[in-house]
Amino acid sequence: MDKIIIKGGKSLHGTVRLSGAKNAALPAIAASILTGGAHQLQGIPKLKDIQTIKLIMSKLGVSFQEQGTDLAINTDDINEYEASYDLVRTMRASILLLGPLLARLGRAKISMPGGCAIGARPVNLHLKALAMMGVDMHLDHGYINAQTKRLKGADIFFDIPTVTGTENIMMAAVKADGRTVLKNAAREPEIGNLADMLRNMGAQIQGDGSDTIIIEGVNDLYPARQSIIPDRIEAGTFMIASAMTRGDIMIEGCRPDHLSAVIEKLKAVGAKINIFDHGLVIKGPDRLHSVDIKTMPFPGFPTDLQAQFMALMCIADGSSIIKETIFENRFIHVSELKRMGADIAINGNQALVRGQDRLLAAPVMATDLRASASLILAGLVAVDGRTEVSRIYHLDRGYEALEEKFRALGADIRREKV
Ligand code: EPZ
Repeated sequence: MDKIIIKGGKSLHGTVRLSGAKNAALPAIAASILTGGAHQLQGIPKLKDIQTIKLIMSKLGVSFQEQGTDLAINTDDINEYEASYDLVRTMRASILLLGPLLARLGRAKISMPGGCAIGARPVNLHLKALAMMGVDMHLDHGYINAQTKRLKGADIFFDIPTVTGTENIMMAAVKADGRTVLKNAAREPEIGNLADMLRNMGAQIQGDGSDTIIIEGVNDLYPARQSIIPDRIEAGTFMIASAMTRGDIMIEGCRPDHLSAVIEKLKAVGAKINIFDHGLVIKGPDRLHSVDIKTMPFPGFPTDLQAQFMALMCIADGSSIIKETIFENRFIHVSELKRMGADIAINGNQALVRGQDRLLAAPVMATDLRASASLILAGLVAVDGRTEVSRIYHLDRGYEALEEKFRALGADIRREKV
């Protein structure tokens, strides 16, 4: 297992180009199942999770051709509908195959995705909505066995605005009989990216980006051509890195409209942010102010940047309260940050962070994707030695060559193959 070694204390300067968003690319690749033909996606990031969904789909008969960040997908010969446990357990987002397979084949057998480090990650809302659309499902030996003669439109209300739940039902609804109305739908930018792709395929969808999405079922869909939006969580990670290191970096290709909550909070911390057509420049202040955050569904502060923001608060003036409202166990990075000298007290879903003058280099262990980013950020500012972050296979699931991008901005950081 590789590890990343960082000698902290460098300010970051220069320009970084974002990769395509993991959480937009995954549903877009799954959506290609909806119809046969040759699909063309642009801006696909090189990530472990992308390799995983391609592996699962290739076992269903789908073929892929990578060309840089372009991905050609041929879905003419789909002859299987089972996603096996050994692959699904490595990536919960495999649940996104359920809707498209039911729309294309009327059948799907997907391993029930287990929980993960950050929470139980139930999919009950996905299944409840599909049952309302005429899908018969039963759980058998850990697999969701689903079938339907014909998907039919339904009026669905999500108790919680679930991102992949919204995406799964959108994909199931585009060829269903009649109209589907999704209420309390998720509003994340990745939902809009998927809706754009489905419209490019001939689907009739409106309201994406709001909490009510209306889909009129159509008979035919056509192969897609779609570009993937830039990764707003990668952008936020670099913004926080610049704020932490008194940096001055240009983040090229980012969409400020996808980051309004993060921009507002980082301005409150004291960062200077200038927005341009092709991205934004963020300068870190000499002194960081402590700021409270509460994670919320989009457009609120994203839970996927909570761990990274906590690393920032560890070296800010004063105390900040970080409230995690989306996942029940998303403070695993706290114990590792405390090993670097952070002063953090957890009380239920709230963490009280008392800012310190500095963090100390230490060997630490990544436990999940965004926690690993948080530890790398802490390492960028930690003094007295080198921080070694182990188990960075978690990081490689969702960040493309993060250490190389940080090194290009002036960080003393390298990957060591163990
Ligand atoms: C998506 O996960 C993202 N993953 C997550 O990113 C992200 O943290 C999350 O949305 C929230 O923004 C992908 O898009 C592939 P949810 P998802 O369904 O869809 C509860 C990362 O680091 N819930 O929006 O699985 C659930 O327990 C990952 O890139 C149910 O109770 O999240 C959670 O509390 C981590 N029943 C809340 O809803 C359900 O059927 C939001 O979860 C579904 C969800």
